[in-house]
Amino acid sequence: MNQYAEMFQYVKNALSYYDTHGRKGKLKFRYNRSEHTMRVCQWAVRLADEYPGEIDLDSLKIAAIFHDIGYSVEEDRTSHPANGAKLCREYLTARNYPAAQVDFICELILRHSDKECIHDDIPAELILLMEADLLDDTGAQGIVLDIWVESRREDADYASMLGHIREYTLRTMQKDSVRTPAAKRIWAEKRALAESFAESLSRDLTGDWMEKLI
Ligand SMILES: [Fe+2]
Repeated sequence: MNQYAEMFQYVKNALSYYDTHGRKGKLKFRYNRSEHTMRVCQWAVRLADEYPGEIDLDSLKIAAIFHDIGYSVEEDRTSHPANGAKLCREYLTARNYPAAQVDFICELILRHSDKECIHDDIPAELILLMEADLLDDTGAQGIVLDIWVESRREDADYASMLGHIREYTLRTMQKDSVRTPAAKRIWAEKRALAESFAESLSRDLTGDWMEKLI
């Protein structure tokens, strides 16, 4: 097992309670954070591959693997970036990673949820980590997630599903959330797919057959 596989297994173990019980609150929803983590790692590597400048790929991969481990802290999920940075620091320090690299990785984890600052003067690795996190659960995946959540309502129907998709996935994808050329291209593809899906569903649900019948 290489170092990244070991790290992922460590994170997966830490998140096992969250992944089997979902999150607390009125919208109890079983969301698998380990699977999200794996997808974010894939996006990070893919974006780094197309990034037109120098990237500390090792630090980016490690930050992506640990970025949501903070959700494993049951009693305080609101500050998952700070909790995640702390847990990652403990892991890396115990394995003698260089102090400067540990500081850098922990800074990436600590700031990854502050998506508003993606257009500011920040390290490229932080931009790619945020973009990777944003690209997951959007587009086709976002629509599935919307339906998944909406279907928990007893009175859910096609119209409410469409409303949910418009309110969440379509609205999210209207924002200018990503920055690098590769992420912008993928974001635009996902947005076009989501818009096309919603338009098609809307047409299917609002036929004018009754007007023609009477
Ligand atoms: Fe995440």
